[in-house]
Amino acid sequence: MNANKQLWEQGDFTKIAESMRESGEALVKSLDITNGVEVLDLGSGDGTTALPAARLGAEVLGVDIARNLVAAGNRRAAEEGLTNLRFEEGDASHLDNLEDESFDLVVTMFGAMFAPNPVDVAKEMVRVTRPGGKIVMGNWIPGDPTFVAQVLKISAAYAPPPPAGFVSPVTWGVEENVVERFSHAGVLPAHIAFERDTYTFTYPAPPTELLAAFRAYYGPTMNAFAAAGENGREADLHSELDELFNAQNQSADPGHTTIPATYLQVTVSV
Ligand SMILES: C[S@@+](CC[C@H](N)C(=O)[O-])C[C@H]1O[C@@H](n2cnc3c(N)ncnc32)[C@H](O)[C@@H]1O
Repeated sequence: MNANKQLWEQGDFTKIAESMRESGEALVKSLDITNGVEVLDLGSGDGTTALPAARLGAEVLGVDIARNLVAAGNRRAAEEGLTNLRFEEGDASHLDNLEDESFDLVVTMFGAMFAPNPVDVAKEMVRVTRPGGKIVMGNWIPGDPTFVAQVLKISAAYAPPPPAGFVSPVTWGVEENVVERFSHAGVLPAHIAFERDTYTFTYPAPPTELLAAFRAYYGPTMNAFAAAGENGREADLHSELDELFNAQNQSADPGHTTIPATYLQVTVSV
């Protein structure tokens, strides 16, 4: 079994994605999407960015490695009657079903960064984008003090050492790596723009309950708890994460959680 696929199919990312809808919608609004624009949402999950893009009139394909999330996305599209949006299973490292130059915009918010073989991912994203089109990536930043970067850092510290040759997803959050990876696809540095932006997680319960959702449904955190359990360190992991979730919460309402997270936004002009 493909470990990357298993990582995301074991959980239920829809439960986390529900806390990211507002930022997903705001991001899509910033992309100048007009009627009929062809959009690929890569690592789409259940459609946090794909649905808002389709609502703006784009023709959207969501591709995700997790079968359960593809099904959830198609359910959400059907419930809203969005006939210009569909989801299918696929791997960002080899988009075998997709033809060259078939999209005006490729968007991947914290999606393609999780695929192994980052150079292949960069080449595939460029290959399927039309000349004149663009790629927009959102990537968590290694060492960043804010929320998700710290969740991933703490989780990785409890997980078993990765297999030889494993490239950490957060290496996509370093500008030099992004430039180097896209250079293999023939993209010049001048055609890549970087910006630091914020995704805000909002949850209708206290931070400790959001952590419970991460523990139950978010693949990287689930793996960390499983590994910590084997070493009798579950309580340590829980208290480290609980401290983080509560310290980063900015909501004044004790029944709600609001946590901002900084990410690197990459825009590639193809
Ligand atoms: C953190 S979630 C983000 C989902 C969505 N973009 C969002 O903003 O809600 C990461 C997503 O990337 C998907 N993914 C991971 N590796 C992938 C790969 N190799 N190809 C396609 N999708 C992948 C996962 O299944 C998961 O849905």
